[in-house]
Amino acid sequence: MKFEDYKPTGKISNKHMLTLMDYSTEEIFELLACAVELKRKQYAREKHDYLAGKTLAMIFEKSSTRTRISFEQGIRQLGGYPMFLSSRDIQLGRGEPIRDTVRVMERMNIDGIMIRTYKQTDLEELARYGHIPVINGLTDDFHPCQVLADLLTVYEEFGTFEGKKLVFFGEGFNMANSLMLGCAKVGMDVCICAPEGFAPRADVVEEARKSAHNGAKVVVTSDIEEAIAGANAVYTDVFFSMGQDKDPAKEAALMPMQVNAAMMKKAATDAIFLHCLPAHRGEEVTDEVMEGAQSRIFPEAENRLHAQKAVMYMLMKDN
Ligand code: CP
Ligand code: NVA
Repeated sequence: MKFEDYKPTGKISNKHMLTLMDYSTEEIFELLACAVELKRKQYAREKHDYLAGKTLAMIFEKSSTRTRISFEQGIRQLGGYPMFLSSRDIQLGRGEPIRDTVRVMERMNIDGIMIRTYKQTDLEELARYGHIPVINGLTDDFHPCQVLADLLTVYEEFGTFEGKKLVFFGEGFNMANSLMLGCAKVGMDVCICAPEGFAPRADVVEEARKSAHNGAKVVVTSDIEEAIAGANAVYTDVFFSMGQDKDPAKEAALMPMQVNAAMMKKAATDAIFLHCLPAHRGEEVTDEVMEGAQSRIFPEAENRLHAQKAVMYMLMKDN
């Protein structure tokens, strides 16, 4: 079944958004369909305060512009309240266990937790010890909310995922892992082009291949020409993610994968450029591509708002 033919049910069975590893094609379609509808309501200025009176706690152990603003604005637009908690200011940052933190939050009627942190296991612990929906706002392993926004952007551009291909240039870290899962599960071909030694997690590649919808292909390669050929969406991310040290050898290995005008010319003629942002111009991408006619980076950033409103609505409406 294609996303454009999907009939929403208003339900997903997951209680959390920890990783797209846990999500079926139907559940991702459900979230995307909800995002499309919430975006329509927002543009039409139709009331959609479905989470009136609910509180989303937002824990940040790393910096953020888009994730913080989109979740904070998103919960407000749904009628609820954001509670911003920097780990620098709460006892978590001084070593209080996450399992104690979540049980305290529960006693104080927090309705949802968004967390940006390093270890995926911290999210799993939050989910295990509490009964509150947990939403991944980025870990070293995954960035599922970003990918839902990316998929919405691709769909808005092409009207379908069928027969489309996304290529990601960069290391096998959070973005590569989540893009592989998201693209494969909605039925879009995906190619991760990473230098030798920087391939994505083998278990994630396996899950993406196993759960690929409608025969979508999942390719991991270091061959740039093979990767860019026929790509409809060209995606990249910073050479050094939050928490990583600069490494000249890694930079040298990634530099030939820079998305510049010459690279974009090798993609499909209708190709768009995507980037989760923040970007480092002159490193993984040039200013020319960022500012060029194929760039969709700002609609993509806006779609964080709509995609995450769908995630919050689906996970928090009945709890
Ligand atoms: N793309 C993204 O997650 O941006 P922030 O780090 O600014 O939240
Ligand atoms: N890979 C980047 C993504 C930022 C949104 C990082 O983890 O810093």
